[in-house]
Amino acid sequence: MVKKIRKAVFPVAGLGTRFLPATKVMPKEMLTIVDKPLIQYSVEEAIEAGIEEFILVTGRGKQLLEDHFDHAYELETILAKRGKAQELDVIERIIPDPGRMSYTRQRHPLGLGHAVWCARQFIKNEPFAVLLPDDLILAKPGCLKQMVSAYENIGGNIVAIEEVPREHTMRYGILDVAEDDGYLARARGLIEKPTPDHAPSTLSIIGRYILQPEVFNHLDKHETGTGGEIQLTDAIANTVGDIPFHGIRFEGVRYDCGTKSGFVAANLAFALERNDLEADIRAIIKDLV
Ligand code: UTP
Repeated sequence: MVKKIRKAVFPVAGLGTRFLPATKVMPKEMLTIVDKPLIQYSVEEAIEAGIEEFILVTGRGKQLLEDHFDHAYELETILAKRGKAQELDVIERIIPDPGRMSYTRQRHPLGLGHAVWCARQFIKNEPFAVLLPDDLILAKPGCLKQMVSAYENIGGNIVAIEEVPREHTMRYGILDVAEDDGYLARARGLIEKPTPDHAPSTLSIIGRYILQPEVFNHLDKHETGTGGEIQLTDAIANTVGDIPFHGIRFEGVRYDCGTKSGFVAANLAFALERNDLEADIRAIIKDLV
């Protein structure tokens, strides 16, 4: 029996430089897909997967994220006075029970591995999930729920993976695959951002992880890797041999909302999923193209 995944880390301390000027004062994770900020999509995905505790690793200028998951008394009072019950429900439903959402500061953006390490006191000695909110996944059930189902059978460290064109391997962590049944790929290692000729496969890791607390043993050392950053992938690679490591080909479509084209595509795709918008958006796209 594996230990239940109860906690999730959301590293949200990045600078979001590819989205300037939008991210000059607003965190990238507050960018909106249709009418909801990215962070809310990933928190909802985590709730669907059974997560009970949410740890946001924040940085400078990220207070808006905390405000988003707290009461907005003035707004709530006005909505109540105007009898706007539905709108009131929309903003109140997202507020977690007291003590379920915690925040810690990364202080310096030293890399994703360092951001996750900053959450170690909240995780302690249990397995946990990591969700990068800028990887937005349209999937039913949600990607993390799919991963948790697989985890219950195989345990260990698990990452969500997808096939990428070989010429793009330099953008991702890439799996070194030992065995592959077309759904699960058992890996003997992974390499961060390899050049196409050095990539051991074309299976890239996307921003969903289930990890064992042993990854902190490596992160404690603060070793820098590719790009001079403390890499989460190096910590996972370090546990291979001791802890089973699998990639799972989730069912769904992933949008990289850290890029402008991915962000626009996500807005269109999520709008097309909505009964109240689908017809209008179809007509608009038809007009445009
Ligand atoms: P990105 O590589 O997308 O970096 O980080 P970024 O700073 O957010 O964006 P750009 O490249 O400047 O446009 C991937 C994820 O890791 C988090 C980010 O917040 C994002 O969720 N991250 C990255 C941290 O929390 N801390 C870091 O030191 C680096």
